[in-house]
Amino acid sequence: MSTFYITTPIYYTNAEPHAGHAYTTIAADVLARYHRLKGDEVFFLTGVDEHGENIQKVADLKEISPQAYCDQVAPTFTTLWKRLNISYDIFLRTTSELHKTGVTRFLNALYETGDIYKGKYEGYYCRPCERFFTEKEQGVDKTCPIHKLRLEWVEEDNYFFALSKFQDQLIKHIHENPEFIQPAARSNEILSVLETGLEDVSISRASVSWGIPLPFDPDHISYVWIEALSNYITALGFAGNEDRFQTFWPADIHLMAKDIVRFHAIIWPAMLMAVDLPLPKHVVAHGWLTKDGEALSKTRGIFIDMDADIETYGLDAFRYYLLREFSFGNDGDYRPNRLQARYNADLANDLGNLLNRTLGLVSKNFDGIPEPTTPDSLDNEVIQMAKETISKVDSLMTQSAFDMVLEAIWEFVRRVNRYIHQTQVWTLAKSEDTRSRMGTILYNSMEALRVIAVLISPFMPDTAARIRRQIGLDDSTAVRGLDSIGTWGGLQSGRTIGKPEPIFPRLDIKKRKARDKTSDVQEPQAEEVQLISIDEFQNLDLRVATITEAEKVPKADKLLRLIVDLGGEKRQVVAGISQHYAPDELIGKQVVVVVNLQPVKIRGIESQGMVLAAAGDETLVLATLDEHVTPGTTVR
Ligand code: MSP
Repeated sequence: MSTFYITTPIYYTNAEPHAGHAYTTIAADVLARYHRLKGDEVFFLTGVDEHGENIQKVADLKEISPQAYCDQVAPTFTTLWKRLNISYDIFLRTTSELHKTGVTRFLNALYETGDIYKGKYEGYYCRPCERFFTEKEQGVDKTCPIHKLRLEWVEEDNYFFALSKFQDQLIKHIHENPEFIQPAARSNEILSVLETGLEDVSISRASVSWGIPLPFDPDHISYVWIEALSNYITALGFAGNEDRFQTFWPADIHLMAKDIVRFHAIIWPAMLMAVDLPLPKHVVAHGWLTKDGEALSKTRGIFIDMDADIETYGLDAFRYYLLREFSFGNDGDYRPNRLQARYNADLANDLGNLLNRTLGLVSKNFDGIPEPTTPDSLDNEVIQMAKETISKVDSLMTQSAFDMVLEAIWEFVRRVNRYIHQTQVWTLAKSEDTRSRMGTILYNSMEALRVIAVLISPFMPDTAARIRRQIGLDDSTAVRGLDSIGTWGGLQSGRTIGKPEPIFPRLDIKKRKARDKTSDVQEPQAEEVQLISIDEFQNLDLRVATITEAEKVPKADKLLRLIVDLGGEKRQVVAGISQHYAPDELIGKQVVVVVNLQPVKIRGIESQGMVLAAAGDETLVLATLDEHVTPGTTVR
C-alpha cells in the first residue's frame, strides 16, 4: 500500500486561529482525504508552535505562565478544526513530550555531524518574526520586509548551523527535482536566493527562556524555527516510534503559504542533509488570503467572519468556495458576495438541481433505480466524459490545482445537466416505448451523480455522503473510494433510492441581511453588487456645494434642513445628519451633493438633492474635500 504524509505548518499560539490558517488546513485536508480515496495509508499532521519570545511576551502581558497561556490557546485550534471537518491524524503541540524528546534526539544527531559550532551573532533582528535579516533581505532603511518595523541590532553568543556548506547540494537537488518546490515561481525564487549565497544560521537564543534547551549546552534555548521545523519528524515519533517514522518519512507534501517557504526549502532540507535523512518530496506554497485586498490582521480589524459565512452557506460551501475561487499559488481576496454567487450558481443550481431533477423523475416514474436498457451514443459521451474527468482530477490533484480540479468536476456536472436537457427526459414517460429510454438516461444520470459524489468528497465530505444516501448507497468504504468509480454501472438497478431533499437549499437572505446590519463590516450582497457601466455611473451628477444655512427640522431628531450653494444656484436639502453634526459647525463646509435626484418631500420639506457621507452603524461623517474648490465643480 502506498503511503501519503502531509503536513501543515504548526501555527503560533500567540493568537487564536483565523481564516488564513483555515485555508492551509482545509487544503491539506482535501489532499489527505483524496489520498485516502485512492487507498493510500495517510498520515496528516497539523499542530501548534508554542515556544519562543513572542509567545512568552503575550503570556507575560496576561500575567500567566507561557504553558498556561498555550494550554488556553491550543484548544481554540482543535475546536476550529473540528468545526471545519479537518481529518487530521495528529495534532502536535511543541510543548508535548513527544516533540521535546524528538527535538533533543535530532539536535544531538545534528551536533554529532560537526555541522554545529559556537560563535557570536551580530545582526539585524525582527522581534515579531523572531529572526535575523541579512542585508540582502532587509527592507529600506533596515526595516523588516514583513512587518515594516525597524530592525534591532543584536549581538549574542549563539550556536550556528553550517548552512552555507549545503548550498551547492541544495541547488543540485532542486535542479534534479523540479517538482520539489511548487509552484515553479517559488522554486525559481528559492534558486535565486541560493545562487546569491547562503550564510550560516544561528540555532539558539541565549536571551530567550521559553523553549527547549540545547541538549549539548542547556544554557542555550533552541531557536524556535529550528525546533519547529523538526516537528515534521518528531510527530512521527522520531525518538520512539520507529515504525511510524519508517513508514511515513519522507513527507510527501509540506504545505504552507509563501511566507515561510525559505525555511522549508532551504534550512529544513539542509538540516536533513546534514543528518543524512531523506528530504521531503514536495514543498508546496500557496498565496495569501486577503480581505478587501489587505492582509488579515485582527488588530487592524481585517478578518474573515468564518462563523457567519459557515452559518449562512454551510461548511461544505465555505470549503468549496475557498478552493474553487482562487488559483492556489496566487493571492486571493475573500468576498462573501462571491461565496454567495458560487453557492447559487455552482452548488444550488448546477449540482443541487441535477440531483433533485434526477431523483424527482426516478421516484415519480420508477420503482427504485431504473435499468439501462437502450444505450446510445449520447450516453457514451457522458460515460466517456466521466472517465476523462476522473483521470483529469487525478493529475490536477498532484499539482494541488484545486480550482482546476473543481472546474473539471463541474464541467462534468454541467454536461450531465445538458444531457438531461438534450434528451428531454421528462417527456419520455408518456409511452411504454420511450419509458425504457427514460430509464436508461436516468440510470446514467444517477451513475454520474455517484461518480460526482466520490470526486467531490475530499472537498465536501458531508455533501458527498448526502448525495450517496439519496441515490440509495450506504456509507461503506466500498462505495467511497476511487476504485468504486473505476467502472461505469456500479449502481444496482431495482434498488430503492433515498428520500430526495435539497442539498443546497435556498438561502435565507433576510437572515443574512439582518446579521450584516448588526456586524461592523458590511458585506456587499450579490444582488446589490450588480456591476454598473461607466455610462451608468456618469448618469450621476455630483457637485461640490458649500453649506450656507443649516437648521434642525422640527419634531425630527435626525434631520437637518440645509441650504447649499452650487455656484450659480442654491438648493434646499434635507439630510439625516442631526445626531452627528450641530447646525453651526456645518456653515461654510464644502460637501458633495447628488444634484440630479428627483426631489422628494421629507416631513413636508422638499429635498432637492442628497449630501454624501460615510455611514457606519455608529458613525456618520460627511464626505468633504481636501481643499477648497469653486462651488458647483463636478465630482467624478
Ligand atoms: N510557526 C510558524 C510555522 C512553523 S512550521 C515549522 C508560523 N506560524 S504562523 O502561525 O504564522 O502560520 C503561518 C502559516 O499560516 C502560513 O504559512 C499559512 O499556512 C497560514 N496563514 C496565515 N495567514 C494566512 C493568510 N492570510 N493566507 C494564507 N495562509 C495564511 O509561521
